[in-house]
Amino acid sequence: MTQVRLECRPMSASDLGWVVSVEAALHASPWSRGNFDDAMSAGYACWTFRECASPVAYAVLMSVLDEAHLLNLTVAADHQGRGMGAAVLSFLLDEARRHGAAQCFLEVRESNQVALSLYRSRGFEAIGRRKGYYPGTQAREDAIVMRYRL
Ligand SMILES: CC(C)(COP(=O)(O)OP(=O)(O)OC[C@H]1O[C@@H](n2cnc3c(N)ncnc32)[C@H](O)[C@@H]1OP(=O)(O)O)[C@@H](O)C(=O)NCCC(=O)NCCS
Repeated sequence: MTQVRLECRPMSASDLGWVVSVEAALHASPWSRGNFDDAMSAGYACWTFRECASPVAYAVLMSVLDEAHLLNLTVAADHQGRGMGAAVLSFLLDEARRHGAAQCFLEVRESNQVALSLYRSRGFEAIGRRKGYYPGTQAREDAIVMRYRL
């Protein structure tokens, strides 16, 4: 991968300890180990990304016919803000294109300004809103649905 030097590998069971701990630390509604197991068993594209042999990021992409759905994209806290999220997103969009997808969709919490900024700046457009999609500490939170034309 360009700019930041990331090595990408398919996620395996041995990655899940690290993945699940990062997931629990960074997401308000984290995926469980079972969710990652299910995603791998279902054949979704589950990736981990390493820098100098250390894991720094992971992502899950689901493909349905000519649509790709970005289900998870996470950069470990101590590696954020260094271009990793943008590099991983670029890799995932290339992968989706390579597998014949025409569009990539995702949902993002309305309050997640960093992720919204990442997606907007890389060409995703907001196409809808799912009311109360995410659990919240006080009230449920809307999801912004975004699309990227590949
Ligand atoms: C969202 C996330 C993947 C971004 O990864 P990152 O490696 O920190 O982002 P990058 O350094 O590659 O920055 C990419 C873009 O994100 C935005 N961004 C990054 N840090 C930001 C900040 N502190 N404030 C505002 N925007 C920011 C910018 O648009 C930036 O583009 P630019 O550098 O051209 O300005 C990462 O913060 C993360 O894993 N967050 C927790 C999990 C999460 O929310 N995942 C997304 C769920 S939909």
